[in-house]
Amino acid sequence: MRILTGIQPSGAPHLGNYFGMIRPAIEWQRKGEAFYFIADYHAMTTVHDPEVLRDNINESVLAFLACGLDPDKTVLFRQSAVPEVHELAWYLSVLCPMGLLERCHSYKDKLARGFKPSHGLFAYPVLMAADILLYDTEIVPVGKDQKQHVEVARDLAQKFNEQFGEILKIPQPEIRESVATVPGLDGQKMSKSYGNTIDLFAPEKAFRKKIMSIVTDSTPVEEPKPLQDSAILAIARATDDPELVASLTDKMKSGGFGYGDLKKDLFAALWESLEPIRKRRSEWEADPGAVGDVLQKGEEKARDYADSLLARVRKATGISS
Ligand code: ADP
Ligand code: TRP
Repeated sequence: MRILTGIQPSGAPHLGNYFGMIRPAIEWQRKGEAFYFIADYHAMTTVHDPEVLRDNINESVLAFLACGLDPDKTVLFRQSAVPEVHELAWYLSVLCPMGLLERCHSYKDKLARGFKPSHGLFAYPVLMAADILLYDTEIVPVGKDQKQHVEVARDLAQKFNEQFGEILKIPQPEIRESVATVPGLDGQKMSKSYGNTIDLFAPEKAFRKKIMSIVTDSTPVEEPKPLQDSAILAIARATDDPELVASLTDKMKSGGFGYGDLKKDLFAALWESLEPIRKRRSEWEADPGAVGDVLQKGEEKARDYADSLLARVRKATGISS
């Protein structure tokens, strides 16, 4: 079974990425043949500074490795190491109705947040479909915001197969409900493009400062705190640590604890639970040669796979004989 997912190197990886996608993806690698990649072409829809892009790519590679990607088992690659993905994107593009893209929330959302409407931003879901379909993917572990994009990939695979024969596998999004949308500092979805993130690898002081600035209401210290819509509690739930959730819930229900106290508890639990991945990140960071080897091996495999699928696609479409 093929499992595939990607992360855009458009900024530092954050807790939403970790709980929503990276950690579930790391668990999935035991269950099948996993292909995980850095969506660098995608990041170019918003990042146009080459130094920043290079740094972000490196950070995202380190994040996957730090979080437990097993390089002996899982294929790790940069999207741009397989530029053939654009060829598949074209075959899908010619079958893709404009309306399908016009309905995509993430495009409308980006425009509402002030991004310039470019063709790349608009056509992004077609490239994402190609990312998925190029590797016979069955399972796509993602956060909830990506569900619609995986549905576009399913639609396009079906259209292709109806037109040219059963070539493309139909993928399935895999979304873990408890972490489907991790809130950011302002209570909205945590996202690199919204400036409300808690970075996974922020230094201790900055990490604590971020946690202490999570938005709360003005319930006085002595009173019970509302559980609904609490970003503190939602982030705690994402950790999958029932003791932390129970202790925060008790303190909120009983009153007598200020939001500052609750945030300190959340900080302490998060900081400790992330210690092993911070340690692994430093180890990989200190050995760029080993990181390069992992990518080289992964990229060869990804390219081989893509070549054989594209050969079938070219034949089916009439592009090759
Ligand atoms: P961002 O929105 O910060 O740019 P990406 O689009 O690169 O993040 O997302 C990478 C992966 O992390 C995707 O699978 C996405 O669904 C997931 N993800 C991002 N933010 C969150 C969040 N706040 N909660 C849950 N999953 C998230
Ligand atoms: N669009 C995804 C995001 O912003 C990143 C991505 C690109 C992706 N191609 C993919 C995720 C293919 C899963 C599968 O998070």
